[in-house]
Amino acid sequence: MKNILITGGAGFIGSNFIHYILKEYESIQIVNLDVLTYAGNPENLDTVVQDPRYTFVKGDICDRVLIERLFKEYHFNTVVNFAAESHVDRSITEPELFLKTNIIGTQTLLDIAKHNWSIEPDNKYCREYLKDVKFLQVSTDEVYGALGNTGMFTEKTPIAPNSPYSASKASADLIVRAYHETFGMPVNITRCSNNYGPYQFPEKLIPLMIHNSTQNKPLPVYGDGLQIRDWLYVEDHCSAIDTVLQKGKNGEVYNIGGNNEKANIEIVRLILARMGKDDSLITYVKDRPGHDRRYAIDNTKITSELGWVPRLTFDEGIIKTIDWYLTNTEWMERVTSGDYMHYYEKMYR
Ligand code: NAD
Ligand code: TYD
Repeated sequence: MKNILITGGAGFIGSNFIHYILKEYESIQIVNLDVLTYAGNPENLDTVVQDPRYTFVKGDICDRVLIERLFKEYHFNTVVNFAAESHVDRSITEPELFLKTNIIGTQTLLDIAKHNWSIEPDNKYCREYLKDVKFLQVSTDEVYGALGNTGMFTEKTPIAPNSPYSASKASADLIVRAYHETFGMPVNITRCSNNYGPYQFPEKLIPLMIHNSTQNKPLPVYGDGLQIRDWLYVEDHCSAIDTVLQKGKNGEVYNIGGNNEKANIEIVRLILARMGKDDSLITYVKDRPGHDRRYAIDNTKITSELGWVPRLTFDEGIIKTIDWYLTNTEWMERVTSGDYMHYYEKMYR
């Protein structure tokens, strides 16, 4: 049976991953370790709180004592590290926090996993580990930097991050690689493109634009709006991570993406059209400093070597997503008013 430590599971992708795993596997134990920053919302997991396979622990991935205790108590054989500061715009105003959580937090988790999984924990040269253990680092395509009009990121593209966010994720990614190269730790690194779907905090492009258009507020498009992202429905990201956990070769990096390149303005127009609003809400604003122009993922390795394929096209996924936000207006209301912050106290104290 898998005994998984999922970090950052109250955030957007982590909570979708927990729903996905509980749906896919009967025999599983999940501990969700999340410090509940502004981006962590335990309400995303409302429907699984009573599930005996699920435990929530409020805590920081930089807290060695707590993580050591959790390893001793739950005997994890898998770690999936989602916990991160994840918003590029915030990393421009507060880079230090990104370095602490994204780099030091990842190294803390790695170190404790290594100690608990090594067959000789006190021998730092030991390269042998318990059977069937794995540390999966959820990285991002942003570590590769930006593309021009052509080309795609492969796993061999040099790392060249441009924002404090992507630089901190690249550092974490390289530390995970180093634990494999130096200590032989069983790890995988996944680098996914932009995700969209339910439970995404409305500071990110798609939920922000949906929310503002429901309120008839301006839709702030950075620069000329012609920056390109490669969009993947969040459940497809979850199935890709699951595939890498099952079949990924130790030490390997896997790009994840679904070949859905779209310009930001195209997405904004599509959202307005679906909501029956006109383009007059679009407001061009000052560009993000160091704004990456284009991302595009070459997914050949994961599709050909591991047999993963995305299930949803962008046209299906975006409609599903818009409809989810329009149906779950109370979720959006509590997130935008800050009320979700009180949920933890109500549910867990
Ligand atoms: P998110 O911001 O929605 O969630 C992050 C979660 O981590 C939150 O629940 C937060 O409370 C928690 N967290 C933050 N600091 C923590 C700490 N010190 N200790 C414990 N928990 C902490 O982010 P997301 O969009 O769900 O992204 C999850 C992961 O996937 C991140 O590592 C991100 O870099 C990566 N990623 C995201 C995307 C995307 O499009 N969103 C794409 C590729 C990769
Ligand atoms: P975002 O969702 O922040 O993801 P990332 O920066 O990690 O790709 O932004 C997606 C794209 O949308 C990016 O090019 C920036 C742009 N954007 C806007 O034009 N306006 C906005 O209000 C936001 C949040 C993003």
